[in-house]
Amino acid sequence: MADAERLLEARDITEMPPEGAGAPTGWLKGSDNLDWGMKNRLSRLIKPDGHCQFLPIDHGYFQGPTRCLERPQDTVRELLPYADGLFVTRGVLRASIDPRIKTPVILRVSGGTSVVGKDLANEVITTSVEEMIRLNVAAVGISIFVGSDYEKETLQNLALLVDECEDYGIPVMAVTAVGKELDKRTSRFLALSCRIAAELGARIVKTYYCEDFDKVTNGCPVPVVIAGGPKCETELEVFEFVYDGMQKGAIGVNLGRNVWQNPHPAAVMRALNGVIHDNLKPKEAFELFQELKNSASD
Ligand code: 5RP
Repeated sequence: MADAERLLEARDITEMPPEGAGAPTGWLKGSDNLDWGMKNRLSRLIKPDGHCQFLPIDHGYFQGPTRCLERPQDTVRELLPYADGLFVTRGVLRASIDPRIKTPVILRVSGGTSVVGKDLANEVITTSVEEMIRLNVAAVGISIFVGSDYEKETLQNLALLVDECEDYGIPVMAVTAVGKELDKRTSRFLALSCRIAAELGARIVKTYYCEDFDKVTNGCPVPVVIAGGPKCETELEVFEFVYDGMQKGAIGVNLGRNVWQNPHPAAVMRALNGVIHDNLKPKEAFELFQELKNSASD
């Protein structure tokens, strides 16, 4: 994409005046004009401080029985009390999750591809709106694959889903997927994907953390949640990227493998809640993690 005069590139936040007096200033970015049901659902997922920690266990929908997610009910048992939302497909929800849980559900409603198939991007909408209502979900999640051979189809999926869900006050969370091309995780690409998702009507966008993350959040008129991405070497690294992302405008996280593939997943989630809800610095979160880990093994 030629952009010699930098006309396509978003301005850096330092080049811009503070957000104007006319800008919405409510509890959640972009939510001032939402209907009651939509706001109510969002408020089940996003706490009064405007922040959230979601727990995703949807990985099996394209990669089968992922390590540490072989039996989802065992994985989530000790984690649900620390999650503000559970991201899951309808199959695992029905088969493995106790309907008496207090944690609100974000239903994964795109799929139809697999890691052994031709192209991960060739997704369809997998779940009807009647099913979303039957399962009493707080929101739904769908992937978009900007820049892929299926860009148009996946963006159309998002637009159609928003059309249906808006009728029933169900918030749509767009997931800016990159397939196997992890080098796409730049602020330029992710800002583009997030903005397109919001323009098509997503009420929340989930995207990868990257350098200059404020370029991503600044260009997106709805809240941005950080997706996990590849597993980090240390817990401190996880707390560091989450802290930086939160400082740069994310409202929370949706971390899977960095939580439940850790030998002490509940301690990771509780320390992450420290960063997300109690403004802990990465080192303080790491100290809390170690304390919790040690007290659990006493
Ligand atoms: C998979 C997803 C996952 O919810 C998301 O990637 C978070 O999981 P992880 O932290 O393991 O990457 O949307 O498509």
